[in-house]
Amino acid sequence: MLGSQGVRFVGVGGALPDGRLTNDHLAQLVDTNDEWIRTRTGMQQRALAGPEVTLTQLAVSAVRQALGAAGLEPSQIDLLVLATSTPDDLFGTASLVLAELGAPQAVGFDLTAACSGFVFGLVTASQFLATGAYRTAVVVGADMLSRWVDWTDRGTCILFGDGAGAVVLQAGDPGGLLGFALHNDGPQNSCLTLRFQPSPRPLVEDLTVGPGQFQPIAMQGQKVYQFAVRQVPEIIEKALFRAGCTQDQVDWLILHQANQRILDAVAERLGIPPERVVSTVAEHGNTSAASIPLALEHLAAAGRLQPGQVLALAGFGAGLTLGAAICRWG
Ligand code: UT7
Repeated sequence: MLGSQGVRFVGVGGALPDGRLTNDHLAQLVDTNDEWIRTRTGMQQRALAGPEVTLTQLAVSAVRQALGAAGLEPSQIDLLVLATSTPDDLFGTASLVLAELGAPQAVGFDLTAACSGFVFGLVTASQFLATGAYRTAVVVGADMLSRWVDWTDRGTCILFGDGAGAVVLQAGDPGGLLGFALHNDGPQNSCLTLRFQPSPRPLVEDLTVGPGQFQPIAMQGQKVYQFAVRQVPEIIEKALFRAGCTQDQVDWLILHQANQRILDAVAERLGIPPERVVSTVAEHGNTSAASIPLALEHLAAAGRLQPGQVLALAGFGAGLTLGAAICRWG
């Protein structure tokens, strides 16, 4: 191992909204069917939030569970990083989450890296702990992409679900973030967008401003698929190298849950057997920044996440963005 970065993982939690959208429901909305969705994605259902549910509520619920697992109180949080592309407030939702939790002593901010957001957030928070600036950090991945899906586009509306997941990190040795690698591919940005569209408004004389609206999610599915299958194994290998680990040492491969076929292809390329790959695709669909911590929580709830286990986490998606982190749990 190249050495620890002085960050311990001490708790995980997750929250899903109550609504369930099945493949048969989707067949009522667009020209699709259960068989196509299962075969091409592995998905069976997704959790969806009603209009009364806020991202803040989901995030708070995930954080409370993670704190409970860690035996900590909100008053002990120093830092909260909220990875999201679907904030309740574009000025930032972390402040709302901290207020709702009752953690006025903590500092928090939003971080946007789409479906890679949780890994980017984990790495970001870890730097504050490794420098000794803070002792306890919470990283939340929370998204409600149902707010931004085009429900007439069968190429995207079948994929996404809502949810939040959180991990609690503390400074301390031996460290649990063993190695990481992050990457942006801006030139491929147009493959997956949730883009602002201005409607120009002349104000005075020759001054025009651009108020407008965000357009629904648009994706070139095959291009993103190829990006993932080609580049996710490479970035995991890079992070493993930096961690001084090999594929054989990975107890759990926890990828962004975009498509079962992507999970299978990446695991096969890395030579990691299916029984060491965590999948919540069938039950949760693609919950964007929430999918990795929700998969971790799923593993913990099943009693299969044990101290000392090595995890290979990897997020990928819009941006395009890509990130991998090799971690030792507990
Ligand atoms: O979270 C961010 C990262 N996102 C991803 O990683 C998503 C990556 N992409 C994917 O997972 C896959 O590309 C999809 C699941 C989105 C699509 O699967 P695909 O195997 O790449 O299908 P395709 O787009 O190549 O479409 C194949 C056919 C097309 O029909 P024709 O042109 O062959 O007649 C599509 O129109 O399937 C059709 N199709 C559908 N048919 C039934 C596309 N969507 C559907 C649908 N139901 N929902």
